[in-house]
This record gives sequence, structure tokens and C-alpha cells, in this order.
Amino acid sequence: MTHEIAVIPGDGIGQEVTPAAVDVLEAIAVDFEFVEGEAGDAVKAETGEALPRETREIAADADATLFGAAGETAADVILPLRQVVDSFANVRPAVSYPGLDAVQPDTDLVFIRENTEGVYKGIESEISDGVTTCTRVITEDASEKIADFGFDYARNNDYDDVTIAHKANVMRETDGLFLDTAEAVAEERSVPRTDERASGDTASEGIAYDTALMDALAMHLVMHPEDYGVVICPNLAGDMLSDLAAGLVGGLGLLPSANVGEDNALFEPVHGSAPDIAGEGVANPAAMILSAAMLLDHLGYEDEGDRVRTAVEATLEDGPKTPDLGGSASTEAVTEAVVDRL
Ligand code: NAI
Ligand code: MG
Repeated sequence: MTHEIAVIPGDGIGQEVTPAAVDVLEAIAVDFEFVEGEAGDAVKAETGEALPRETREIAADADATLFGAAGETAADVILPLRQVVDSFANVRPAVSYPGLDAVQPDTDLVFIRENTEGVYKGIESEISDGVTTCTRVITEDASEKIADFGFDYARNNDYDDVTIAHKANVMRETDGLFLDTAEAVAEERSVPRTDERASGDTASEGIAYDTALMDALAMHLVMHPEDYGVVICPNLAGDMLSDLAAGLVGGLGLLPSANVGEDNALFEPVHGSAPDIAGEGVANPAAMILSAAMLLDHLGYEDEGDRVRTAVEATLEDGPKTPDLGGSASTEAVTEAVVDRL
């Protein structure tokens, strides 16, 4: 069976790492047909539109989409694209790999970020000169859906620890609803933690869960990431905490992500277009290739996804490495090494 994959490289290093991921997918014996679409700053400069209708249609019709990165137009590209694939969950694993100089080498976290609402709903206004507002939208439906997804993810991926991040002590209505709803799901799906966080123990049966204020959680994640597994977050908190976790494991060049909907999904690195290194051919392709591995999992090719992850892990450990990881190899050399290992 042929799967149609939309490929949207976008701007900057998106143009460099997306072909790397396609090379890797081509090296895997799965019948993919790639259909390329344009998006981002460059196409906006040309046509006036950051996300042309044709690209939306390519993504909507495909079985899955690979997206690189956009530059200044990122919000005009990725937010609508996430809607095109109707994705309610943003999955962002942050894992430390052997052989890399990670700040925290025992990190194995997965952020499950609500992907449709919160402050990213984009309801902002200038109500008078010098005074602006942003409306934060949290619904019971979306909160329940993301919590359910988080527990499914934990169960299917052998995590025995779920944390619900919130700031309900301040945002009593919005995060109050998020927390109450997610906890109701948690109570059905898990056992509450009774152990001391610091002891590192986990409950002996089922999935243990707890709740955490997101600011304190940020500190604990830096100091003791090994105490955490799956972290379910409202939209903005998930965006910020996952970048924080990127810093723990070796940088943005390593973090893949999935935007998952009921019938469609989009896979992209967490990083942006990196204008500081764009055009030099030295972007780390790992985040994008690992995003392609998540695409393989999503389409039911888990063994192939594992093969890609194993090849990336071996390359991260033994090289060649790009400059962000202390090496001097090019994007192409790293990609070739991954393909050779496959
Ligand atoms: P960024 O992720 O592009 O770069 C942050 C830093 O990480 C830079 O020093 C960059 O060189 C480095 N970096 C990122 N990916 C790397 C890789 N694969 N290999 C090696 N180093 C890597 O974030 P920044 O600088 O905040 O934003 C740059 C542009 O990207 C902006 O125009 C922003 O709007 C856009 N952006 C787009 C996103 C998207 O398309 N999903 C997400 C985040 C930012
Ligand atoms: Mg971000």
C-alpha cells in the first residue's frame, strides 16, 4: 500500500534537514510517495501568502506531513497547518543519548502538549493605546482529550509516570478546569503517587501520576529530570517546558515532534529556521530524522521507526557530529552515516 507523504521544507535550515529525513525514509523499505509543498517567508515574499492553498490541500490529502520550519511567518504557517491536520496533541520527546555532553544525561521525558487552545488561540487585541489583552481559552473537551491521549501514550510507550502541569493557583478558571478535568481522567487511568518525588521511586503497578505547578516543575525538570516521564501540559507551558528540556539533552537539533489528529498527523522538529546557521549546511538533521521516525510509528511501521532511531542513536554516539554537538560534520555527512547504518 502506497502512503502519500506531504513534504513542506519551509525556510532556512528546514530546506536542509527536510531532504535528510526524506533520504532516510527512502532508505526504509516502505512504499511512500512524496508530494512537496511550499510555505514560509520565501513563498510569502513571492506570492503574498505564507501558506498557499495548494500546500494546505497537499497536507489535508496526505496520509501524513513532514514539515521543516518557517521563519518570521512561523505562526502563519504552523498554526494553520496543525489545524489542517486537525491535530489536538503535540508530542515532544526529550531524550538524552549516550556519547553526548548533555546537561542531564538521565533524561527521558515526553511532553504531551494541548495543541488547539490556551493563549495560542490567537485572540488578542489592543483595547486602547498602550493596553493589550490576550484571551486564554481552555475547554473541558480539549483538556479531557489531551489527558486521555497522555495516558494512552504512557501505557503504549512503557512510561509509568505521568505529571499534569498547570498554574491553577493563579489561572483559577482556565487552568482550574484543565487540572480538574485532567485529574478526573488520571484518577480513572492510574494510581496517585504516594512516594516522595525525590526518592525516585515509582508506584509498583499501573501508571503513577501527580500534578505540578508549572513554574516549580521547570526547576525540578532541570535538577531531577529522571524523576519524570510523561508531562501533560496546556499549550504555552508545553511549548516552553519542551524547549527547556531540549537544553537538558543537548539542544534543539535533537528534538522531534508529532502533531496528532484523529485521522491525520504532521511531524516536525521542535526547532525553527535557525537563520544564524542557515545556508551553511551544518544543521543537525537528527531532530528532523527522529520526526520521520515518529511518522513511521504513526503509520504503523514501529519496527522501521525503531530502526531509524537506532541508526540515529549510533550516529549521535559514534559520529560524525554536527557543530552543535561539538563536531564539524555537515548535515549531508551525518545523514549519509544514518542511511549507511540503516
Ligand atoms: P531556532 O530553533 O530556529 O534556533 C535557536 C537556536 O538553536 C539557534 O542558535 C540555532 O542555530 C539552533 N538550532 C536550531 N535547530 C538546530 C539544528 N537542527 N542544528 C543545529 N542548531 C540548531 O529558534 P529561533 O532562533 O528562536 O527562531 C528562528 C526563526 O525560526 C524565527 O523566525 C522563528 O519565528 C522561527 N521558528 C519557527 C518554528 C517553526 O517553524 N515551527 C519554531 C520556532 C521558531
Ligand atoms: Mg517553540
